[in-house]
Amino acid sequence: MPIFEPIKNTFMSYQSREDKLRKLEELNKEAELGGGKKRIESQHKKGKLTARERIALLLDEGSFEELGKLVLHRSTAFGLDKQKFLGDGVVTGYGKVNGRLIYLFSQDFTVFGGSLSEAYAEKIVRIMDLAMKNGAPVIGLNDSGGARIQEGVVSLGGYADIFYRNTRASGVIPQISAIMGPCAGGAVYSPAITDFTLMVENTSYMFVTGPNVVKTVTQEDVTAEELGGASTHSTKSGVTHFSCANEVEAINHIKKLLSYIPQNCEDEVPLLPYDMGDELRTGLNEIVPDNPNQPYDMRAVINGIIDKDSFFEVHKNYAESIVVGFARLAGRSIGIVANQPQSFAGVLGNNSSKKGARFVRFCDCFNIPLLVLEDVPGFLPGTDQEWNGIILNGAKLLYAFSEATVPRITVITRKAYGGAYDVMNSKHIGADMNYAWPTAEVAVMGAKGAAEIIFRKEIAEAEDKEAKLQEKVEEYSEKFANPYSATERGYVDEIILPEQTRKKLITAFEMLENKVDTLPRKKHGNIPL
Ligand code: HXC
Repeated sequence: MPIFEPIKNTFMSYQSREDKLRKLEELNKEAELGGGKKRIESQHKKGKLTARERIALLLDEGSFEELGKLVLHRSTAFGLDKQKFLGDGVVTGYGKVNGRLIYLFSQDFTVFGGSLSEAYAEKIVRIMDLAMKNGAPVIGLNDSGGARIQEGVVSLGGYADIFYRNTRASGVIPQISAIMGPCAGGAVYSPAITDFTLMVENTSYMFVTGPNVVKTVTQEDVTAEELGGASTHSTKSGVTHFSCANEVEAINHIKKLLSYIPQNCEDEVPLLPYDMGDELRTGLNEIVPDNPNQPYDMRAVINGIIDKDSFFEVHKNYAESIVVGFARLAGRSIGIVANQPQSFAGVLGNNSSKKGARFVRFCDCFNIPLLVLEDVPGFLPGTDQEWNGIILNGAKLLYAFSEATVPRITVITRKAYGGAYDVMNSKHIGADMNYAWPTAEVAVMGAKGAAEIIFRKEIAEAEDKEAKLQEKVEEYSEKFANPYSATERGYVDEIILPEQTRKKLITAFEMLENKVDTLPRKKHGNIPL
């Protein structure tokens, strides 16, 4: 175990210059070994990379500039004065990802299990402050046993210093957290405040209280993986946006994510080159089935519109009745929010509303235009939904769209029913353009349900009730289950052939490029959390 030996008093030293230079090299090498070879081996045996290996994978070669490499903790309790490791368990600094500046910290599990001390927190705070002043993203690679137990309250204070900065930085610079090992107790709240969280399957977990405490308090038997593994948080809780098969995949995801987002809230995402000449996408004409109740995959619509292979889905396995993610359209980064008819008919529920709202707000913070693809039969009914707050959760999505000032366009592919029509980026709540396909149905509800309510008496009195119902369904469909009455009113700007959608959207987003819209003067709004 490398124990740090303090540098001798340099004023009185008779060391030669050569010795002094060598000393620095030795210290740097020692710092780079973290907790030492044995612990590095043990880290590898667990299928995990070290803090420095992760940084090497993330950053452009040779771009890493480390800060605080020789920092030491100042604790003396419980024998800590005899256990010191250069850098104190976290590697911090800045570098480039695809030529763009980022700040990062990478927790080193080989030093006190990556646990957070006062000095360690100061290192993270330093790079967060630099990132805020210089307007660049912060990436946190988390692998830590939590508060450094021997340090007591100063460690808690260190966490709070970080949480405070996470919050202040929210909406100013993008913040991304990758969980690559343990992340437990209050430590989870830093990733939770950041914009995106990624987890590595089987080697990472996040929970406020671990399986032992759970057992004591609730008598539940649960493993760490079940309680807070990547699969749990990417499907059940929505805490993580990406579940990654391994660390390399997680780091590649971070790089990809960064390519769609700007450096800060005043910046724009660089345009990418794209293939021209394929604006007409005839395949789109075939996607919506004849039967309005038959599902189809909205991802096929997305891929039919955007630049080839550019869709990067966020929260893929969570609340699947809504699909959100980034894409490129004529080289421009856009955010897509789309109902998914393939999952619960694309209905809006508690989780899908929250998922959509959070994504909309991220895009709006960072000047990313929004495209909404709409095929929604309404909000999900039932006690489960009501008791879990569909009123408040649906309002989150409504609020998020209503306050977004970025360019916003909606394309109604099929159903736009009821309150969900309003919520899904209608022109009434500030969308800039609203297109509909000829297959669209903009109505208060589905034709059958509507006919059963408004013609109940007539149907009940009819000799052939089935035939009467069918007649009334057709009557209602003709009047409302189409895009024409909404277009007559100007709620829909244009009915377009599906194959024209890409071209229309490219032109419309270009037209909206310099959009300026501001919210009324206020301290901040009060989104129904
Ligand atoms: C100090 C710690 C530590 C901690 C681990 N270590 N966690 N040292 N403070 N929090 C040290 C161990 O002593 C050990 O040192 C080394 O790190 C590796 O730990 P192992 O237990 O050998 O590793 P492993 O078996 O992989 O288990 C990892 C672990 C476990 C599950 C994280 O170490 C663990 O349960 N640690 C304690 C977790 C915890 O209770 N943390 C405090 C939570 S409260 P050696 O010298 O043997 O290598 C909290 C509050 C935050 O975090 C509040 C913020 C608001």
